[in-house]
Amino acid sequence: MDILFKKNDISSDVALIIGVYEDLSLTKTAKKVDQLLKGGLTNVLKNNEFTGKIGQKQDLIPPASLQTKRLVCLGLGKKKEINELTACKIGAYAANALLTSGETAVEFAVDDLPAAAVGFGAKIASYRFTKHKTVFKKPVTLKEFYILTEKPQVAQNQYEPYFAISKGIHTARDLVNEPLNIVNPIAFAKRAEELQKYGLTTEVYDEKQLKAKGLNMMLGVAQGSVNPPRLVVAQWRGKPEDRKTHAVLVGKGVTFDSGGLSLKPSAGMEDMKEDLAGAATALGTLQALAMQRAKVNVAAVMAMVENMPSGTAQRPGDIVKSLSGTTVEVINTDAEGRLVLGDALWYAQERFKSPIIIDLASLTGAIIVALGTDVAGLFSNDDKLAGQMEKAAADSGEKVWRMPLDDLFEDDIVSDIADIKNATSTRAAGSITAAMFLKHFILPETKWAHLDIAGVALRGKDALLGPKGGSGFGVWLLDRYILDNLEVKN
Ligand code: BES
Ligand code: ZN
Repeated sequence: MDILFKKNDISSDVALIIGVYEDLSLTKTAKKVDQLLKGGLTNVLKNNEFTGKIGQKQDLIPPASLQTKRLVCLGLGKKKEINELTACKIGAYAANALLTSGETAVEFAVDDLPAAAVGFGAKIASYRFTKHKTVFKKPVTLKEFYILTEKPQVAQNQYEPYFAISKGIHTARDLVNEPLNIVNPIAFAKRAEELQKYGLTTEVYDEKQLKAKGLNMMLGVAQGSVNPPRLVVAQWRGKPEDRKTHAVLVGKGVTFDSGGLSLKPSAGMEDMKEDLAGAATALGTLQALAMQRAKVNVAAVMAMVENMPSGTAQRPGDIVKSLSGTTVEVINTDAEGRLVLGDALWYAQERFKSPIIIDLASLTGAIIVALGTDVAGLFSNDDKLAGQMEKAAADSGEKVWRMPLDDLFEDDIVSDIADIKNATSTRAAGSITAAMFLKHFILPETKWAHLDIAGVALRGKDALLGPKGGSGFGVWLLDRYILDNLEVKN
């Protein structure tokens, strides 16, 4: 669906959405319609269950003098609560209202609402992953979403960055939605290379190169699969005169997590195609930054592997020497994310010497027990960075909750015969012990944040801002964090 901005003139041949606030006060266009109806709109609303609550919808019969094809009244919520995020939600409600209605175009008279944010909400809500479908029960019919506003050119310009973010989100969603037989590590690397057209640079390292470098923890996870691993490094350098890399995003890219020899139960195992969500989000964020030509240098290190059981698979009890030199006892082959990330984090720091590293990983089932499916776990060794991430989360509506990273948990991951082990003897504080494991691969001078996105990466049901499936969680949040705190403004 395309988002288009147009001067405030209502056409006769398409559907029209008008807005009404929660106290039933009418927007400018709604007032116009009310006048045409000789007070009929106010009357209908008063005598109905319609309260103007955000997202509430009331179909109206268009007055003859208006000649619009279809008329929908949409609740905008409280006027004083209108901000970027609520405007985005209103856009999503508006799109969802007619997405599969048979209408092909709609005009939404946004009046006082921030038009660009409305467009963004409508855009991400209209995403559907249909490429493998040959039969549609409820096809999306809406192709053109016109936003009627006083200053369409201004709104169009303000929409550009949102469009970039929506593209990044859709890239992340696509990669999560694709099953392993379509997106394996090699295919992921190809998708990353396709983004060179936006100005990203990419490098892809194969298993031989990884062996030579010494990423043995990552290779250990990959060794059971017929699909070989790839380390994908992408960069957006929007400030090329500056040699520094301002931040590195490190993504867990387990294209499928069967658990390996510590095999997962079969119920729900298909969802483990989502286990590359961290890498998908890192790549989507870089795409968003590149499309905005953001004046910042950001790299993404994406560690792509498949975790499978086989005769060549890593065994519980194996000891591996990580890239950092720390030795690790593999207690549970299903706790593979921390192994893959440990090497990727070390590689990222050695290579880029960036002051800030943010990793994203669908790391633990325990974070779902702790925070559910709408809030990601945030871990950080730096209060300022954590605060900035919390602010970006509040602005973007992609919620995070800070979890403790306390030395108290350190004893749990000490191994009897190696330095550390990848799983503990109990399930207690599973997300924290996983984060503590990662901390072993963080240099003291690095400001580090870890987002455990296991609960939020794949939606179990349709939501306001997108359908069931890959959510793209984190792209908007990271884009906001980077632009607000790291972009060089001038
Ligand atoms: N990929 C999973 C985590 C996960 C769970 C992601 C649910 C998305 C939804 C991870 O690799 C894993 O299996 N973790 C184990 C760790 C345990 C064996 C210490 C877990 O959380 O059970
Ligand atoms: Zn696992």
